[in-house]
Parts: sequence; C-alpha cells; structure tokens
Amino acid sequence: MKSLRLVILAVVLFFVLNFTVQRLEGETLRTLAEKLGIYIGYASINDFWRITDSDKYMEVAKREFNILTPENQMKWDSIHPEETRYNFEPAERHVRFALENGMVVHGHTLVWHQQLPPWVSGKSTKEELLKVLEDHIKTVVGHFKGRVKIWDVVNEAVSDAGTYRDSIWYRIIGPEYIEKAFIWAHEADPDAILIYNDYNIETINPKSNFVYNMVKEMKEKGIPIHGVGFQMHIDYNGLNYESFRQNLKRFADLGLKLYITEMDVRVPQNATPKDFEKQAEVYRKIFEICLDNPAVEAIQFWGFTDKYSWVPGFFKGWDHALIFDRDYNPKPAYFAIKEVLEKKVMERQK
Ligand code: G3I
Repeated sequence: MKSLRLVILAVVLFFVLNFTVQRLEGETLRTLAEKLGIYIGYASINDFWRITDSDKYMEVAKREFNILTPENQMKWDSIHPEETRYNFEPAERHVRFALENGMVVHGHTLVWHQQLPPWVSGKSTKEELLKVLEDHIKTVVGHFKGRVKIWDVVNEAVSDAGTYRDSIWYRIIGPEYIEKAFIWAHEADPDAILIYNDYNIETINPKSNFVYNMVKEMKEKGIPIHGVGFQMHIDYNGLNYESFRQNLKRFADLGLKLYITEMDVRVPQNATPKDFEKQAEVYRKIFEICLDNPAVEAIQFWGFTDKYSWVPGFFKGWDHALIFDRDYNPKPAYFAIKEVLEKKVMERQK
C-alpha cells in the first residue's frame, strides 16, 4: 500500500515538473523576471530610434527587458546643454519607448562629475552652484514626474580610497551637496525611488565602507534615500562572491533597496569559447546571489548587444562584455542567467 502511494506521488510529481518545464519554455528573461517580481534591464543607447538596425534592437529590448536606463541622454550635457535651455526630446524618446512597452524607466543621472556642459564647470561660487543644482534637479525630476520611477540622484561621489571624490560639487559646495540633491529630488517627485549609484562598491572594501557609512548617516538623518546602485563593471575573473553577498546584506539591513545598475563582464578581445563559458559563470553567480537577497529590485546590464557597448572603447584589449553578440544572438551568459531565473521560478512554484 505504502509503495503504491509512493508510485502515485512520483507519477504526479513527474507530470507537475514536466508541465512546469514545458511552461517555462518560450519564456524570456523579461517574463521570468516578471514572475519573480523583479526588474531586468539595459542601458538604452543614444538615438536608438535611428540606428540602422533599430527594429531589431527594439524587438530584442522589449522582448527581454522590463526596465531601461538611458545610457547618456539624461546626463547633464545632453538634457541641459545651456543654462537657460533644456533639451528633453532625446530623453523623451527613451521614456516613450519604455512606457509604450510596459517598461519602467531608471533615470541616470542628476549629479555627476562627468559629462557636465562647460557653462556648469564655469561656476565658481557656492551660492551659484547650489542654485544651478537645485534648478536642474527640480526641473528634470519635475518634468518626468510619475514617468521615471527610479533616479540615480548622485553618481560616483566617492573615490576608490574611500573619501569624497574631489569634484566641482565637492570642492565648491562641500559634501552637503549630496544630501541636498536627494531632498530636492524628493520635493520634485515624492513617489520616485532615489538612489546613490557607484562602481567598485560591490564587495567589502574601503570605498564600499565609506558609502555604507555615508548612506547609513543619511538614513538616520531622515534624508530621502531609498536605495543603492552597484554598477558592476567587472571582468571574467569575477569578484569575491562571499564578500559581495555580505556587502549586499549589510546595505539591505539598513532598509535600503538594492539595484545592480550597469552590469557587464568583459573578456579579452580574442576570446575563446572557453572564455565565454567563464563569463557565463560570472553572470550566473552574480544572479544567484542577487536572487537570494529579497532587497534586490533590479538587475540591469550596461547595454545588451556587444555591437553597442562602451567596453572596447574604454578598456584596451577587452570586449564582448554583454549577453548578446554583435548579431543579437544570445551568448552562454544569456542562457546561464535564464537558467538561474527558471530555477528560482520553479522553486517558488513548489
Ligand atoms: O556627445 C559627444 C558627441 O557630440 C560627439 O560627436 C561624440 C564623438 O565621439 O562624442 C559624444 O560624447 C560621447 C558620449 O559618450 C556620447 O553621449 C563621449 O565621447 C563618450 O566619452 C561618452 O561615453 C559615455 C561615458 O559614460 C562618459 O563618461 C559612455 O557612452 C557611457 O556608457 C558611460 O557610462 C558610464 C555611466 O554613465 C556611469 N558609470 C560608468 C559608465 C561607464 O563609463
């Protein structure tokens, strides 16, 4: 009798599992992420609507992703090129594409030391610069109120050594520009999720320690900061995964939401199939750790096809950092990520 029951149970389990696996076929990263209640996304390239292969680009983007970040066209030099002129149209194209396709927009970025137009760099007094910053943040966030859900309010304000970065903002205003930026963004859109975003803060090190203390203090003071963005520009040697796990945990324990904002995993330019497998394992491991932490809300890549990636232009000898190749074919990294998502969906369905 007991063995009959076991046989019946095994048969039922077989059918349930088979049914689940069949259901997962035909899924994309987007549909799987949606089942898990997270965002998966990409940095959306400049003028994507007029590149030669824009139809293909858009088709893959909306099939695979449910969030996007404009890679450059919300940055200061693009959106506010002259003191009295804002240039919203290119940014609007990204927002329209996202909203028309049921995707969320992650705005990037309100305060940064790079891609500043000359008229900002020319300001020399604290009063002038504070005024300019307040106007910029309130105008940009106000313009996209209700349409941009998450903002990188302050980007890369800390040095690798773990000190405030020596930028125009820090030199002329002092560290208070950071808190002020969050307060102004919150005033302009009280529903937006406001985050601090940086690179090399994925593991526990002097820089992430500094950021940890900085955001902890902001939380304690009641500054409206809601999350931290870990950029994750890494190579195929990966990182210290245990340290990454612990680091995510300590930020989550502060009550912050966590975002992987700009992930790419570069490999040598003349990569072999083995190198692509190694790259896939790095993507797999990062996804596994992220999905183990319920505070992780979104994982975004800094692009999706190797055809359009900042990597070869910035890292000599490196390339192929994304999950689709130059012809939009999914790479081993894509399948590794998909497997992790599928496994998680099946675990939840048990
Ligand atoms: O705007 C000029 C344009 O007028 C000119 O014709 C063209 C010629 O090359 O250059 C254009 O500027 C380029 C700009 O991208 C395009 O919007 C810059 O040269 C180029 O340096 C700039 O690179 C961007 C970089 O940020 C700037 O530092 C990359 O595309 C972008 O991927 C990268 O993104 C950053 C994130 O914002 C922050 N985290 C790191 C990440 C990678 O560096």
